[in-house]
Amino acid sequence: MDIEISKARKEDFPYIREKIKKYLLDSTGIDWAQFFVARTEDKLVSFGRIIDHGDFFEIASLGVDYYHRKKGFGRRMLDFLVQEAARRDGQKPVYGVTHVERFVAGCGFVRVENNYPAYLDYKRKHICRLDESRISVMKWAGGSA
Ligand SMILES: CC(C)(COP(=O)(O)OP(=O)(O)OC[C@H]1O[C@@H](n2cnc3c(N)ncnc32)[C@H](O)[C@@H]1OP(=O)(O)O)[C@@H](O)C(=O)NCCC(=O)NCCS
Repeated sequence: MDIEISKARKEDFPYIREKIKKYLLDSTGIDWAQFFVARTEDKLVSFGRIIDHGDFFEIASLGVDYYHRKKGFGRRMLDFLVQEAARRDGQKPVYGVTHVERFVAGCGFVRVENNYPAYLDYKRKHICRLDESRISVMKWAGGSA
């Protein structure tokens, strides 16, 4: 199934807001201009955002509609977001904070244990809604996306 990824439009915001709540994703500092959506046959199936923290990018709030999982849409969206961040500034590192390490690793990220921005540790401990031992900070290693 083919998907088309584009910047989120105003009419997409209620869908994204509802899914962020439902999938317990990061809702901090939501700025709709950060979001991209994926559509297939005109139906929204995935979303995610790029947060520009100044000296690094963070990919966050990424989700795939429950009924459309395991079809490769999540990977397509993550690959797209990474490429878009690299296109904006190829020198800036790209991070993600996640409980689905295997999924993120499949898109070229590696787990980092230290030397990452302090905000991401704060997020791991205080913003993510799972036990911090299940949350990893991942850094894009380049290449596979
Ligand atoms: C995590 C999520 C985005 C994956 O989306 P998806 O479209 O089902 O993922 P894909 O089909 O693109 O899968 C890509 C790879 O990741 C793996 N994967 C997908 N979900 C996984 C999970 N929950 N745990 C471990 N691996 C997973 C797949 O097996 C696949 O690996 P393969 O290529 O070796 O077969 C989706 O399950 C989701 O929206 N979950 C709820 C929101 C969430 O947890 N977001 C955090 C994302 S960092």
